[in-house]
Amino acid sequence: MTREFTVVGVVGLGTMGAGIAEVLARSGVRVVAVEVDPAGIERGRGHVEYSTGRAVAKGKLAEDARARLLDLITYSTALTDLADADLVIEAIPESLDLKAGLFAELDRIVRPEVVLASNTSSLSITQISVHAGRPGKVVGLHFFNPAPVQRLTEVVRTVVTEPDVVTDVVDFARRLGKEPVVIGDRAGFIANALLFGYLNHAVAMYESRYATREDLDAAMRFGCGYPMGPLALLDLIGLDTAFEILETMYAQSRNRLHAPTPILKQMITAGLLGRKSGRGFYTYE
Ligand code: CAA
Repeated sequence: MTREFTVVGVVGLGTMGAGIAEVLARSGVRVVAVEVDPAGIERGRGHVEYSTGRAVAKGKLAEDARARLLDLITYSTALTDLADADLVIEAIPESLDLKAGLFAELDRIVRPEVVLASNTSSLSITQISVHAGRPGKVVGLHFFNPAPVQRLTEVVRTVVTEPDVVTDVVDFARRLGKEPVVIGDRAGFIANALLFGYLNHAVAMYESRYATREDLDAAMRFGCGYPMGPLALLDLIGLDTAFEILETMYAQSRNRLHAPTPILKQMITAGLLGRKSGRGFYTYE
């Protein structure tokens, strides 16, 4: 029997988690959105309100549809409020320890048949799943930034993910208007494994002063038709997130392409994280 996923939990309301909550509510799904503290909740709520407010201002979303969408999201600081969820999507920071602890806790809270999904970009779904007590019901469900815009979702199956769990999650991703692809559990999956070698190479060109940031970005936008140049895209992703993804992929692949360019770490240490901190390769209002 196909799972319906009527109530979906989202844990972690950073850029990705808030975007995922919006995607779900846009498709009429009830969402229980969980953050660790009230400040996290307000940040997440702010993301969703800003993004949907912009859609209304552009005439892409009616005011009453926006109100219905916002009503579908309940915010909480208690994981126990996920007890009625049919699916939980985790979007907390990229730390295996944090995710392992969360999955162990979720396993105690939700019903045994409930599917647990991770939005991790590069950590091993298998390693996360063994902490869940139900590894057969754990998948990767990886969205792209901005989640309401990018159509791809990578559905990651481990060697023990039950086939019907994969089928149900793929159907659900389609219901959300996404284009799912199904892959095995390898660092970076498809898109990041290909994308981050390119982004890292652009940072190396910038670091060696081979080209200016503007010219690097212009080359890829106007020469290759990319919607954004690599350095602008890194600012959107967040330099800290990009660094973590590169490090994890490099640890697994030992592919030089994924060895983080040193200036990335220096910029992160100096607080230049990209758009979210107001400055990265570029400066933002
Ligand atoms: N939230 C919601 N909607 C957003 C948004 C956001 N943060 N940013 C842009 N949009 C919407 C806009 O409202 C607009 O919608 P309409 O067409 O309905 O009006 C649409 O996206 C286009 O936006 P803009 O006109 O403001 O700007 P743009 O045309 O320059 O597009 C962009 C902005 C969508 C970000 C585009 O430049 C783009 O697609 N860039 C590439 C992004 C990318 O590569 N993402 C993947 C990153 S890798 C990743 O995410 C994986 C990982 O694990 C880290």
